[in-house]
Amino acid sequence: MTKHVLPVKPDDAFKSEILAGLNAWQKKISSKWLYDDVGSHLFEAITELDAYYPTRTELGILEKNARKYSRLPGARGAMVELGSGSSRKTNLLLDACPDLSVYMPIDISTNHLREAADRIRRAHPSLAVIPVAADFTQPLGQLPLLPELPVLVFFPGSTIGNFEKSEAAQLLKNIRTAMPDATMIIGVDRPKDEKTLVKAYDDPAGVTAAFNQNLMQRMNRELEANFDLSSFAHKAIWNAEESRIEMHLESLCDQAVSVAGEPVNFLKGETIHTENSHKYSEEAFAEIANEGGWRVLDQDSDKKGLFSVYTLKAV
Ligand code: SAH
Ligand code: AVI
Repeated sequence: MTKHVLPVKPDDAFKSEILAGLNAWQKKISSKWLYDDVGSHLFEAITELDAYYPTRTELGILEKNARKYSRLPGARGAMVELGSGSSRKTNLLLDACPDLSVYMPIDISTNHLREAADRIRRAHPSLAVIPVAADFTQPLGQLPLLPELPVLVFFPGSTIGNFEKSEAAQLLKNIRTAMPDATMIIGVDRPKDEKTLVKAYDDPAGVTAAFNQNLMQRMNRELEANFDLSSFAHKAIWNAEESRIEMHLESLCDQAVSVAGEPVNFLKGETIHTENSHKYSEEAFAEIANEGGWRVLDQDSDKKGLFSVYTLKAV
């Protein structure tokens, strides 16, 4: 039914990307590296927090509109999910779309992806489940080919917000090129008061801090680095100009750390920028969608206007 080609192997790039990022003037690490096995589990724990409103809000919107989404072209064909994680939101759509024949979850976190795919297979035995462990920022032409079916792309969680605006538009362009007739359901977080946002990304239980700090543990584990976790602090900062929450790891003293045998120097107060989480108004998101070659067909939100789920059509 499908022609399989080798997916991009996510781990190959870890060392080179980390070293390049730590040598930049503003030290930075792509948020995609937050998701090793430990990071994926910590993210799941974040989604259960009271302070982290996006998951329950998006689930509510999906639940309320599932029947409407089940009438979209693609809902009787193949669903391709980007950044599928635990596929918890997917289950809701799969239940509403019994005529789907293929589910292709794509995620960089290989073990987490495999476990989620097994759960979906057990719950939906007639569905062909084709998990792809890949970095979706790489050319999507390397994905296994889909059979000739209408495609519904599912991109929940506001993961699109984790990209710079130009990267987000480019990613949407790549998706459109790989799946030119697709319809997309995409979750996007909206701007709101700073207090709510900072609490969601610096929760009182410290789960988000552990999620951010795991990046140092991952470098210690995989790159023989010697980060001392107690000398870095988790920071969540609202950057109003860019309409985004930024996560940083702030050095609490002048220090030198060794990463893959290379010295990396920190001044007290210097940070590693580890994540952006953009919050888009309807106008701002429509602009990015249009730039990426998609037209907004529909927008659904919750009563408080915290989060949006858009239906897009490739143009
Ligand atoms: N869709 C789920 C999970 C969101 S967390 C939800 O809405 O709750 C973001 C997910 O995207 C994680 O599972 C992470 O492993 C994956 N991810 C992040 N960057 C990625 C990339 N560049 N390529 C593939 N997967 C990525
Ligand atoms: C996956 N992504 C959209 C989450 C977000 O809200 O930006 C990741 C996250 N970072 C901290 N908390 C959750």
